Amino acid sequence: MKIEIFEDNQKLCVAAARLFASLIRLKPDATLGLATGSTPIALYQELIRQYNEEDLDFSHLETYNLDEYVGLAPDHPQSYHCFMNEKLFKHVNLDPEYTHLPDGQSENQEEAAVAYELALQSAPLDMLLLGMGVNGHIGFNEPSDSFIASTHIVTLTQSTIEANKRFFNSADEVPRQAITMGMRAIMGARQIVLLASGSNKAESVRRMVEGPITPQLPASVLQLHPHVHLFLDEAAASLL
Ligand code: GLP
Repeated sequence: MKIEIFEDNQKLCVAAARLFASLIRLKPDATLGLATGSTPIALYQELIRQYNEEDLDFSHLETYNLDEYVGLAPDHPQSYHCFMNEKLFKHVNLDPEYTHLPDGQSENQEEAAVAYELALQSAPLDMLLLGMGVNGHIGFNEPSDSFIASTHIVTLTQSTIEANKRFFNSADEVPRQAITMGMRAIMGARQIVLLASGSNKAESVRRMVEGPITPQLPASVLQLHPHVHLFLDEAAASLL
């Protein structure tokens, strides 16, 4: 793992955005994996700035997001469809036909998971952006007894519901299930860029980097990947 430590979230996001921008300039038809959460917002802002001011072209890219809540309509303000529209898609020249998120609204969730998995298998990711949950989840791969390879439906842990309730009116409104990319597509990405900031991530960052590889701390599997860049702020790196 290549670890870089920055003063704050803004600085780490600008540095990580440079990595994405370099890839996009080198390979304009790259396939990217994208993440939601508060941590990468400034990365998306930097990419939008480069689109506006430095001609960064998104028109030939294809993107796949990690996850979506089950049961939220794409126009629900807390859906990840809505997040991606607001934070990136509507500001740049991505082709909407080539931006993909798992379908959290399908009547048959298992079918939706299989469909997303098949799409991912035909489009290996050149670069995948990851955040990390306070409990060490990546995408919505929650701590459990085993790693799950394929896109799947997951029941969110209490700790994730607690962590994500800040985006909803109350914990009761947080969906209990999500559909998430599994470890096969995550580990199959050519390069992985994981961002973590804040002292509440420090213990999971330490376990991801220095602890045993275990599905109880899903991000620890990244120790097995040959090209992982970690962009941390000082608070998240404080226990390393
Ligand atoms: C959610 C998403 C993750 C994300 C995590 C961290 O649970 N499913 O993909 O990494 O939040 O969010 P934040 O960056 O707001 O801490």
